[in-house]
Amino acid sequence: PSYHALIPAAGVGARMGASSPKQYLPVAGKPMLRHALDAFRASPLIAHTYVVVSADDPYIDAVAPAEGVTVLRCGGATRMESIRNGLRALQGSVDGEDWILVHDAARPGLDAELIRRLIVETGEHPAGGLLALPVVDTVKRGTPGALATVPRDNLWLAQTPQMFRYSLLCRALDAATDPAAVTDDASAVEALGLAPRLVEGHPRNLKVTLPVDIRIAEMYLAAFRH
Ligand code: C5P
Repeated sequence: PSYHALIPAAGVGARMGASSPKQYLPVAGKPMLRHALDAFRASPLIAHTYVVVSADDPYIDAVAPAEGVTVLRCGGATRMESIRNGLRALQGSVDGEDWILVHDAARPGLDAELIRRLIVETGEHPAGGLLALPVVDTVKRGTPGALATVPRDNLWLAQTPQMFRYSLLCRALDAATDPAAVTDDASAVEALGLAPRLVEGHPRNLKVTLPVDIRIAEMYLAAFRH
């Protein structure tokens, strides 16, 4: 089976308050989405990369043209819908046993080494796997009074990429009836009663949400430049 990357990039990034969607904002001199594309293109394990954008996206043509990258103009109203539409567009191009690595365009710190680690450590795991970081802070639950301290021993923060066999990912997302409950792809697979493997990620692979996150991403990129 082959490994393919699927990057949902059809969001508007409202929390950034910027004039263009956040996946196109410059990070260390190139558009955020370009960092993710370059990471997958730098990985010898990835056969092909697919990017899902909105039908009327005016920015992608300046960013994506590259060997091994296909743009799918089928973005939906939610991240999950964009991924579902992208998976549907892949029908016929990929095998049901192929692995799909879903990665958010908003994580510019990915590199080929993290991709390799995810693929190697997930191996043939039937439920797939995801990059995640062990929680280091003490975790409280409350609204807003602290009601309880949640033991952090087994707590992880999910990152992307998250990888699953094409057929399993389609089945999991089709079965997900409450889009609000599906904040990542692994949660849809978990809802089938499966336990995707947790593979240790890296803080450099942070998700850019607020404007300051771009500065932090640039600091990580500078610190880990190979
Ligand atoms: O906004 P957030 O950071 O949660 O988005 C995660 C990823 O999902 C981003 O890469 C964004 O472009 C993508 N997305 C999408 N379609 C949407 C909403 C978000 O592809 N309708």
